[in-house]
Amino acid sequence: LKYTEPYRPQYHFSPGENWMNDPSGLLYHNGTYHLFFQYNPAGIEWGNMSWGHATSRDLIHWEERSVALLARGYPDNVTEMYFTGSAVADVNNTSGFGVDGKVPLVAMYTSSYPVSQDLPSGKHIRTEQQSQSIAYSLDEGETWTRYDAENPVIHNPPSPYAAEFKDFRDPFVFWHEDTHKWISVTVLAAIHKIAIWSSENLKDWSFASEFGPYNAVGGVWECPNLFQIPIKGHPSAKRWVMVLGLNPGGPPGTVGSGTQYFIGDFDGTTFTADPGSIYPGNKSANWMDWGPDFYAAASYNGLPDGHVVQIGWMNNWQYGAMIPTSPWRSAMSVPRQLSLEVVNERVTLLQQPHHSWRSVVHHQSSKHSWKAVSKGSTRLCSPGKAVNIDLSFSDHDSDHSLASTFAIAVHASSDFKQETLVGYNFTSKEVFVDRRHSGDVSFDKTFASLYHAPLSANADNRIKLQIFVDWSSVEVLGGQGEVSLTAQIFPDGDATEARLVSDGVTRNVRLEINRMDSAH
Ligand code: FRU
Repeated sequence: LKYTEPYRPQYHFSPGENWMNDPSGLLYHNGTYHLFFQYNPAGIEWGNMSWGHATSRDLIHWEERSVALLARGYPDNVTEMYFTGSAVADVNNTSGFGVDGKVPLVAMYTSSYPVSQDLPSGKHIRTEQQSQSIAYSLDEGETWTRYDAENPVIHNPPSPYAAEFKDFRDPFVFWHEDTHKWISVTVLAAIHKIAIWSSENLKDWSFASEFGPYNAVGGVWECPNLFQIPIKGHPSAKRWVMVLGLNPGGPPGTVGSGTQYFIGDFDGTTFTADPGSIYPGNKSANWMDWGPDFYAAASYNGLPDGHVVQIGWMNNWQYGAMIPTSPWRSAMSVPRQLSLEVVNERVTLLQQPHHSWRSVVHHQSSKHSWKAVSKGSTRLCSPGKAVNIDLSFSDHDSDHSLASTFAIAVHASSDFKQETLVGYNFTSKEVFVDRRHSGDVSFDKTFASLYHAPLSANADNRIKLQIFVDWSSVEVLGGQGEVSLTAQIFPDGDATEARLVSDGVTRNVRLEINRMDSAH
């Protein structure tokens, strides 16, 4: 495989072939980053859900490995699929799965059963039931043994919600140091509730508490993720962050999948959102990403204390199965390092790309600065299709000679009829991505759209944008990372040009463009 097909991501993970969705088990162990993911071994549409597997030493160069959990009964008679979950290293061997001192890696996933059945564990499964199961590996994730003796280890939803057995999924498991217990966070997707469980051995689970519904409650709630982060500059202060996917029900201006978060506290039993994180009447939400293509975000287990790295599925259920790529479908976002910082007296969640991307920066980079970029189009020399861009400029209030919008166009054709714009609207104080003319937009009527996120100038009155462009995606981080916007694009292969577009004067512009090499 050479990873040179049209639209093939060069420094984002994508499977060599076939369909991929959610990251399902992000684990750092013994110097290796594991990425398990929802995978159809048989084609480029969702189905036969299994866990694919890739490993990396640095979070940017990935090696795809053999399928970790292959749907039971595949290919002829699938009786159990392995939906989204998570993985941990059971270093104290609480599960007893470890032998000869080997640390067991334990995966917890949703068993999705298309048909009713009686299992070897003696448990009865109803048609279309979803339950939580575990499997373990004693060879660094290469091969897995399902715990058939007791699976599913969480058979049914908590009793008040017994009726939700068809929409009960996506266990995110982690070690809770303060209470010395394993915690698993699951969703009751259709009723917008999180169910939290605890265990001493990863096998026997008790229901601990519930959370929700709050804020955005469109569609179903999926893929919960819960982690603790220190507040920068306040070493002893830490908060907990709950992240979850909504489908459909993303941020304003998007259609389909979206991701929201809550900042709060978790005591080993209950997650309590900070009052500032909740908007009564479901009037608003904290959006993890303001674009259309960031979903099912999950964080790494096994990182040193205080480090949180998250990866999202860079696609959207609205059109995910129609994107014009072959022989694979879907890529992951760049890994993002999360932090909390007090900004304008408010604890704010910030995202920065994990530094690993720097190892694929092509040596020569180009830097430009302008005291004033004038109205119209300013051509830049062709940067190619995989680039990293730092763009900053002075903010201003509206004035007839000054710009109301300023943008950089990437993946542009030589006549600029095709281009993707990443820019700023000085009037509405919003960063935007405009993919209306980005290339192939024909496969879904909602795809050709403009997306925006609120962003104010920093203390120096400047707007800063970090832009990651790959062969079929754009990710924008605004300011210090207080907003991000992720969008797929499918431009023509020869759309390699770039320009600045300003509808008035934009002042003190600084631009740095780094070409990115392939990570393959
Ligand atoms: C979210 C999701 C999960 C589910 C998985 C199935 O993208 O619907 O809730 O476990 O995909 O592939």
